[in-house]
Amino acid sequence: MATSSSSVSLLLISSLLLASLNEAKPSGPIVSGLSWTFYQKSCPNLESIVRKQLQKVFKKDIGQAAGLLRLHFHDCFVQGCDGSVLLEGSAAGPGEQQSIPNLTLRKQAFEIINDLRARVHKKCGRVVSCSDIVVLAARDSVVLSGGPDYDVPLGRRDGLGFATVNATLANLPPPFGNTTVILNSFGSKNLNAKETVALSGGHTIGISHCPAFTSRLYPTQDPTMDKTFAQNLKKACPTANSNNTTVLDIRSPNVFDNKYYVDLMNRQGLFTSDQDLYTDKRTRGIVTSFAVDQKLFFDEFAKAMIKMSQLSVLTGNQGEVRANCSVRNANNENFLASVVEEAVEEPGVWAGFM
Ligand code: HEM
Repeated sequence: MATSSSSVSLLLISSLLLASLNEAKPSGPIVSGLSWTFYQKSCPNLESIVRKQLQKVFKKDIGQAAGLLRLHFHDCFVQGCDGSVLLEGSAAGPGEQQSIPNLTLRKQAFEIINDLRARVHKKCGRVVSCSDIVVLAARDSVVLSGGPDYDVPLGRRDGLGFATVNATLANLPPPFGNTTVILNSFGSKNLNAKETVALSGGHTIGISHCPAFTSRLYPTQDPTMDKTFAQNLKKACPTANSNNTTVLDIRSPNVFDNKYYVDLMNRQGLFTSDQDLYTDKRTRGIVTSFAVDQKLFFDEFAKAMIKMSQLSVLTGNQGEVRANCSVRNANNENFLASVVEEAVEEPGVWAGFM
């Protein structure tokens, strides 16, 4: 059937309208020092450099999108979104990267961030921080996997040190934590139940290694897990400590959509921290609302990501703009840096996993 030009333009207008509706518009106050137009003069092509390069990277391996999204979460929950997770351990001792939850961050995620940094600095000079590049890479990972597009405020500065192994453990929630543990963890970052459930939807893409969930299979099977799902997981992970991996969202593992919530409603969530969101009556209704309405999920996810991306950020003259995302500038210039001293925090809820 031939399509008339007027119906083509109607289609165009309505899809443009839809696209603009899909984009979470900047709303509400942002942290002082950040701005929606921070690099407009100093690096006007920043966002297109990052997106174009990531398009190429994901064309080869879409799994890298999941790695970058998780990297952003782990950066922000430990010492704020300051790029501290990117810093390699120093002579002074191990740091964030050596902490259990960070051992499964993808090596390539760090390489991709450093490569983006090199491309951006080549065009604009050393004006864009590594922490901002992590935020943009996470946003583009969501968009390029099929999720919502949204603007992010920029202007973060990079931290001068990383958190200790124990502080890292204390700030990242464990996969075997129930909803109380997860709500407490996110609550301590001022994120409410709706934001917590929305952000957990990040598990609509990517993979996990067996030890993060095999306590639900061995020695006894978690009764809240679908039986066939459990049988298949046992095949993927023949022993509790197997180093194999499996997908987080069995329905559409590489697509950013709301199927993660459909999984939970079918008792096919991989981690206790996922599945319990549907078991617990405080969060069950939120899970259902996202499972039946992808647009609602996308809107809430984008808003919660913008909020998470502003946790304890450094701005203005604080911190620095790193020349190499893996080391602070002083180290680059052969100064000996010391690990940031923090009150020693206990591993807490992770204790049983060590
Ligand atoms: C609710 C608390 C959370 C817990 C307990 C948790 C835990 C985990 C664990 C254990 C893995 C598997 C790591 C592995 O074994 O390779 C994982 C993967 C992942 N997480 Fe989370 N996570 C949480 C929240 C989040 C949030 C808020 C996001 C982002 C918005 C996120 C994004 C991801 C992604 C994308 C992956 C896949 C990574 C990959 O494929 O490399 N997670 N998470």
